[in-house]
Amino acid sequence: MSEAPPAPAATLVIFGAMGDLAGRLLMPALVHLERDGLLDGDTTLLGISHGEGDDDALREKLGAFIEGDENAWGRWRERITYLRGDFTGDALYEALKERLHGNAVFYLATAPGFFGPIGEKLGTSGLLDEGDGFRRLVVEKPFGTDLESAQALNAKLLGHAQETQIYRIDHFLGKETVQNITVARFGNALTEAVWNNRYVDHVEITAAETVSVGTRGKFYDETGALRDMVPNHLFQLLALVAMEPPNSFDAEAVRSEKAKVIAAVTPIPPEDAVRGRYLAGEAGGKDVPAYRDTPDVAPDSRTETYVALKVAVETWRWHGVPFYLRTGKAMTARDTEIVIHFREVPPTLFRNTPNTDLPPNRLILQIQPNEALTMEMAVKEPGPLVKMVPASLAFAYADAFDLGHRTGYETLLYDVLIGDPSLFQRADQIEGGWRAVQPLLDAWQSGEPDDYSAGSTGPSSADALLARDGRSWHEIA
Ligand code: BG6
Repeated sequence: MSEAPPAPAATLVIFGAMGDLAGRLLMPALVHLERDGLLDGDTTLLGISHGEGDDDALREKLGAFIEGDENAWGRWRERITYLRGDFTGDALYEALKERLHGNAVFYLATAPGFFGPIGEKLGTSGLLDEGDGFRRLVVEKPFGTDLESAQALNAKLLGHAQETQIYRIDHFLGKETVQNITVARFGNALTEAVWNNRYVDHVEITAAETVSVGTRGKFYDETGALRDMVPNHLFQLLALVAMEPPNSFDAEAVRSEKAKVIAAVTPIPPEDAVRGRYLAGEAGGKDVPAYRDTPDVAPDSRTETYVALKVAVETWRWHGVPFYLRTGKAMTARDTEIVIHFREVPPTLFRNTPNTDLPPNRLILQIQPNEALTMEMAVKEPGPLVKMVPASLAFAYADAFDLGHRTGYETLLYDVLIGDPSLFQRADQIEGGWRAVQPLLDAWQSGEPDDYSAGSTGPSSADALLARDGRSWHEIA
């Protein structure tokens, strides 16, 4: 049981309830919340989809994703109902008005093309009016495909709902270790004191995946690694690393600091970016066909499956400190991490010691898998000479805490129900992210990504991007 109180009762209306997200991530998260006593017993789920079905079919479908937690699932099962409807027709919204009373959360787990039309219909039919309870709208990613479309979607939704009613999801923010970045920074004098351009040389943010595009070819070929991961997930990590201390944990205080730092990211010039595309190989223990041979991918596709970027954050604190970001599919290992590289100490004292290339300090925030915090320091090797070798002060979460099995959506769903938008993106953050990558979206309409083999660390041009600055990437492991 959790120390937090149960969230107020509400109807969770999931558009796209028969889809992958609802089954794989949302339902298990709701069951975990129920298990932990974080939901009111009157919370219900109304699943909407355009296909044939009934209450039992939906219960069956969602239940297939539940492992263990039988009591909690048993309690949930009875509270799930199904409504068939066309997301763009009026009849569905008339039916919803009949059925819905009091608090409701509308969760758009649909193809992104429906976000605007559903938001509009909910608005015009009066379903977002908060007369007899709260009405909230949860919008999944991708939120737009470029700056212009994101602005248009924001404008449309904000024409029908207040900003405070809109919860734009970035599921990275539901990860425990991502939330811990704020505590690691601001809760420790030791880190915050050196968290600036006087002591930090550069920062690396990596989200490497072993999974390939697999069956997601249709979505991915229109999207690519840049849109899929950078303006959202990687920029959220960057914002948590680079933002100024908020005055409180109040949602607006935190979101304003994040928006401020994202606005300070210089739009990325194409010469500071590398794009890659995987060739056939073995990744994650599986044979992976070349990206262009993936089902639903155009044989002449120029979509990238890897990006590496050098990003400038033009704030007082970070001027002159490059942030290197990279993400890719079908890579050698699954590894999401942030590495803070500190400056070297003056060499004066160590000039005449046998090991003069003293390793600089590094702080590694391992987000997933094997969540950990590691500080790399230089120590003296025992013996008559002053010989320096690197040593690690390492903290593994699993050694101290039971992280349990979570999907990452537990916190996010709970926060929507209690009305805390801290972990959700505000309109200005979303638009700031797109603004920073827009030069690349424009430039990459022509040309081709560089090749890399599936199961490797990415194209050699990504190594060259750092070598140009006399640096190299932290090992992906
Ligand atoms: C999603 C992307 O938002 O994040 C996927 O669309 C990606 O392509 C996924 O695989 C990564 O999330 P996680 O939680 O598995 O690291």
